[in-house]
This record gives sequence, structure tokens and C-alpha cells, in this order.
Amino acid sequence: MGDDAGAYEYNGSVFLHTVDFITPVVNDPYLWGAISAANSLSDIYATGGVPLTALAVLGFNHCQLSSDILKEVLRGATDKLREAKAVLLGGHTIDDQEPKFGLAVFGVCPSGKLLTQNGAKPGDLLYITKPVGVGILTKAIKEGKIEEKDVPEAIQNMLLLNDKAGELALRVNANACTDITGFGLLGHVYNVAKKSGVKLIINFSRVPFYEQSAYFAKMGIYPKGAVDNFNFVKPSLSFSDLERWELILLSDPTTSGGLLFTVPKEGERDVLALAKELKVSLWHIGWVEEGEGLEVIKT
Ligand code: CO
Ligand code: CO
Ligand code: CO
Repeated sequence: MGDDAGAYEYNGSVFLHTVDFITPVVNDPYLWGAISAANSLSDIYATGGVPLTALAVLGFNHCQLSSDILKEVLRGATDKLREAKAVLLGGHTIDDQEPKFGLAVFGVCPSGKLLTQNGAKPGDLLYITKPVGVGILTKAIKEGKIEEKDVPEAIQNMLLLNDKAGELALRVNANACTDITGFGLLGHVYNVAKKSGVKLIINFSRVPFYEQSAYFAKMGIYPKGAVDNFNFVKPSLSFSDLERWELILLSDPTTSGGLLFTVPKEGERDVLALAKELKVSLWHIGWVEEGEGLEVIKT
């Protein structure tokens, strides 16, 4: 698990490069394009940057997908890029049995402003900016258990750019920042703990999630990646009183999740005030201690 974006410092600026692509998470091609674009842009915001340009990466089989569908995917992505004030310059397509779409994004941040995963300090508070559990919902959509219209809040959150969340993390001088994607909340928190050389504690009772995600997790409907993520962090994880569905939820492989960042406790008031001003949803889900690994408590 690497950094969110490749960073190259030159002449007072840090150039940020990232690439991400996903299989369809919803049935509507326009929404898939827009969600995938928001997902790809997220790594730029997680590193404190603003996106400037992007290239599309597209895998599809022309026998399965019509050009009308492709146009919708690209329209979704271009609209999302416009919202992010970034421009699509081109792209590349290959023949692929399972459709994939994403963006390689180029962004920039001023020197000295780069947000990384390795600066979390004992005493910091841990925040996230979107609820967890969309991976379980997109799995349920793929299996035909629900449709997009049944989970409007989750769709809106996947579409939501992390631009304001990134601005918030930057302006409150977050010690560490990353975005929650494929490795799930636990996987990304583990990454911050390991890279920062600290221990992170999550209070499950404070973690926001979708009701339907809990419902499906209890029924055993979740992506296999959730189990892989859990097994990956397990050797470094301690917990008590957590049920299996709760651990699955925390390990949910996420598309276009929120930012996760840590801020010194003294900054708490500023964080809350600025989140309100920027209209960023914010949950204080834990804190940082000396030590290593992760602990999940429930109060
Ligand atoms: Co990332
Ligand atoms: Co990424
Ligand atoms: Co080419």
C-alpha cells in the first residue's frame, strides 16, 4: 500500500500524479463515469493538492458495450472533472472482457504543503468525512438485491468530491491524511499507523455507516475484499466485543470514500468550525497513541 499520489517537487511546487480505475459499481453508465472520476480525483485531494488535468483509462469489449454507453460514462466523468475545475486531455482504451474505467490525474500543491500518511502524532484526533459501507452496497447492486435508487445517500457520497475535505485537512494543518478506498477503513488506518510509527484507536460507536450496509453484512452479502482487508490488518489489530458484521463493515472495500486525517487535539475547535463553514461532514472516530497497530473499541 503506497502513497496516495506520486509527488515530484520542482520549482516551488509539488506535482502530483495518480491513476485509479474501477469496474462498474452501479448500473447507470453516467453515474459510473462520474463516481469513477470522483474516486480518481480523490488521491489528489488526499495529498493536499488541486487537480489540473486528467487522462481517461478505459477497458471495454465493444460487443458488450455500445458506444452510446461509453459516451455516457465519459459524459459523467467530464461533468465531474468540470466540477473539480480540471480538464480531460485524452485517454487510452483497450479491449477488456470486464469493463473498467478511471482517470490518471495530474495535480499540484505548493512546496511544503503536501499531506502525507506518515505524520500522525500521539494525542492527535482521528476524523473521517464520509460514512463507510459503500462496497457492501455496490456488491448488493451487482447481485441484483437492490438498485441505485434504493441507496441515494451512498450514491451521493460516492459522487461527492473530496475537494472541500482536502481544503479542510490542509487548513487545519492535519498531521496525516489519506482517503478511504479499496483497503477499507481498517486498512487505511493501519497504513497511517504503520507509516507514522504510532497506534490508532477507533471507537466503533462513533463510526458512521449506512443502515443497509449493516443489513447486508449481517446477511453475509459483502465483497470478498472485505475479508481480505480484515485478514491483512488482523495481526496488528486488537478488539473486543465486536461482531463479525461490524468488522466486515470496518473492512469494507470502498469506492470514492471520504478523507481520513489526524489533527492535534488543540485544533479540535478549529476543525469543527471550519468543517461547518466549508459544509464538510465530519466524524471524530478515534485518536492516536504511542505504540503500534490498531485497536477498535466500542463504548
Ligand atoms: Co488513496
Ligand atoms: Co488510489
Ligand atoms: Co493510446
